[in-house]
Amino acid sequence: MKNTTSSLETQLSAWCAETFAVCFPDADLAAIPLAVIPSKNEQFGDCQCEAAMKLAKELKTNPRAVAQKFIESAVLPDFVEKIEIAGPGFINIWLKTTALAGQLEAMQADKKLGLPNLGNSRTVIIDYSSPNVAKPMHIGHIRSTVIGNALDRLYRALGYNVIADNHLGDWGTQFGLIILGYREFADQDALKTAPVEELERIYVKSYNLSKEDETWRDRAKAELVKLQKGDTENLALWKSFIELTLSEFNRIYKRLDVSFDLYRGESFYNDQLAGTVDLLKAKGLASESDGALVCDLEADGLNVAIVRKSDGGYNYTSTDIATVVSRTEEFHPAEIIYVTDERQQLHFKQFFHICKKIGVPTKLTHVWFGLMRLPEATFSTREGNVIKLEALLNEAEARALEVVKASSPNMDDAKQKEIARAVGIGAIKYTDLSQNPQSLVTFTWEKALAMDGNSAPYLQYAYARIASVRDKYAAQFPGINPDEFPIILTEEQERRLALKLIRFPAAVETAAKLHRPSVMADYLFDLSQAYSSFYQNVPFLKADEGPRESRIRLCALTATILKKGLALLGIETPERI
Ligand code: ARG
Repeated sequence: MKNTTSSLETQLSAWCAETFAVCFPDADLAAIPLAVIPSKNEQFGDCQCEAAMKLAKELKTNPRAVAQKFIESAVLPDFVEKIEIAGPGFINIWLKTTALAGQLEAMQADKKLGLPNLGNSRTVIIDYSSPNVAKPMHIGHIRSTVIGNALDRLYRALGYNVIADNHLGDWGTQFGLIILGYREFADQDALKTAPVEELERIYVKSYNLSKEDETWRDRAKAELVKLQKGDTENLALWKSFIELTLSEFNRIYKRLDVSFDLYRGESFYNDQLAGTVDLLKAKGLASESDGALVCDLEADGLNVAIVRKSDGGYNYTSTDIATVVSRTEEFHPAEIIYVTDERQQLHFKQFFHICKKIGVPTKLTHVWFGLMRLPEATFSTREGNVIKLEALLNEAEARALEVVKASSPNMDDAKQKEIARAVGIGAIKYTDLSQNPQSLVTFTWEKALAMDGNSAPYLQYAYARIASVRDKYAAQFPGINPDEFPIILTEEQERRLALKLIRFPAAVETAAKLHRPSVMADYLFDLSQAYSSFYQNVPFLKADEGPRESRIRLCALTATILKKGLALLGIETPERI
């Protein structure tokens, strides 16, 4: 794509920064946000720059005077219509309508729709889903899977080399209990039909026994020691537990269209734990306390982190530190992103801090989310299991089938089912993705499947409707290629739509940078609303040749962006609903 389209807003931001630097050569601009943002209200232009207010505070002067100085010395770029000062010192900017149209044409001609190559092949590791073997997969894991996968797609689209790593909880003291329990009371039939539930049952029963019965505890411990020493029989059992668990999870991943580049569970780093802990000791970061080895992070407000338990065993923290060290050496990632529920915040803060102290150069980010309340009850660790997750997906598809039957009663059954799958799964995913992940969310079917709100079915339906307009056009005007006509923006609804369309790359970038798929969801909802007001108010097929073709091009670009945007959230867009 030509440089003129490296988004008008990106160019404007660069221009604002330059102009401020020229006007205020002595000011420290580093801390001032110089970028332009979309205006909240169109009477304040297409974009705004708020830097004058921030800079005035810095210079202890009047913000309007700062804005005035900016305006007086500004040489407008050729794509800017005018700039004005408003209120306390906002700089409001209007873009030339022809420039907007030009950018739309360039976007349409670009396979990447104007997405910048931010990553430039730099590596980002995204550690997500990461359920525990033989422990319940709970709603937290499905949220981690859906949010992590959206981040994975967003980063890939921006040119990053993403490594999606499923860091399974496949090692730890629970395996002594499970092996013993398995030998004593496994139900082989149940292991075939519902393996994860059965492993869970074995674990819970064995765990409870170990609380009451010292001999049981000792026997479990002995099994664990055997496993850790590499006893073939115990190792084989352990491997079979992982395989059983993974085969169940893979069913869910398949339904969610999620795949991983690596499945490196905790066990992968086993050999590196002792060395990692030695390193902490050598750096003077860890010391003995009541037989355990701990990193005292009190001074940094992060409590104390145990890195080796008093029984000599390593734990979640030491494993995560070893994992970072190993990933950094092997892949040199620019960033490692972890997606888990909110309850792990302290753990991540602690080991990020320790990594920094041992000199790990990698940017580490914890993306956390709150729990979601489901219709009957909150899916908590104790209640949730694979069956329940699958039941949730089944119910979503069944309910979506009702929606599809209502909107396309004459479609054949198989097709209806196939669409209902895309709509049902899309609804579940979108509910997770469209919320601010850090707020507590109550899930309702009405909201998830609403045809008229901020929901997946609404956006999928909008896409299908737009696709049908293109088809109608093609049937009515065969042989005309709308792309041979220029895009012209005459009506105000067209211009508003154009402004939304050109913001697609910025929306993807912001969603990735803030690690918030909800930014993308909000953008798509906004876009579909702008389209809808355009479609309702501007004549399409009845317009004259020229405007008609231009409108079809706007319609096509909207469809392409909705499809691409939903795909970045892992949501399918059937051509009909
Ligand atoms: N297995 C953990 C759990 O289920 C999540 C692991 C997240 N990743 C990590 N590197 N700690 O809670």
